[in-house]
Amino acid sequence: MLVAPSILSADFGNLARDVKAICDAGCDLVHVDVMDGHFVPNLTIGPVVVESVAKAATKPLDIHLMVENNTFFVELFAPLKPRYITFHIEEEKHPHRLIQKIKTYGIKAGIVLNPHTRPESVEYLLEELDMVLLMSVNPGFGGQSFIPSVIKKAARLAKLRDELNPECLIEVDGGVNDKNVGALKEAGVDVVVAGSYVFKHASYKEAIESLKV
Ligand code: DX5
Ligand code: ZN
Repeated sequence: MLVAPSILSADFGNLARDVKAICDAGCDLVHVDVMDGHFVPNLTIGPVVVESVAKAATKPLDIHLMVENNTFFVELFAPLKPRYITFHIEEEKHPHRLIQKIKTYGIKAGIVLNPHTRPESVEYLLEELDMVLLMSVNPGFGGQSFIPSVIKKAARLAKLRDELNPECLIEVDGGVNDKNVGALKEAGVDVVVAGSYVFKHASYKEAIESLKV
């Protein structure tokens, strides 16, 4: 299992320090939650702050857009050269076009599904995708409880993925901890995002290792 700590639960007064610390502790990706106050009822960070995160990070960035105007935000963040940009399918009329656009920057493209969205909604996009991110909470906030139905959904998506594009990673985001990571692994998940679980742990290294099942 690859581990992507969400910096939403970091200490924003010491963001560079925390980003360095999770990278030193062995994370695989640095998960950056971008919220616009419209698609979700919360507002986080823009390119100025993410640039500082990119400078502090020794691991690639995984940018999760929770915004209304995806194309605008893709153009804003692409110059920071994240490894992944993922966007919500619920908020995009032309997901196929946006996947192509993200790839023209040399960035891997992913689609995010809210808890109610069917895994089949990405069936005809899977061959183009580098990642599908399944939300296991309603997007907007860290520290929420894991929605268990995502396990079945991940297993269904993993079947489609194995058939259509085995290279595409499945990521799960929200309420992930050492208790549910085993079931996610069994369902075929490749990457977990963990915010509060990692940042509330006394040792980031121990927390990250406990998720590498
Ligand atoms: C929620 C964000 C998550 C969040 C995860 O909208 O997408 O990345 O920070 O935090 P935890 O792991 O605390 O649920
Ligand atoms: Zn996220």
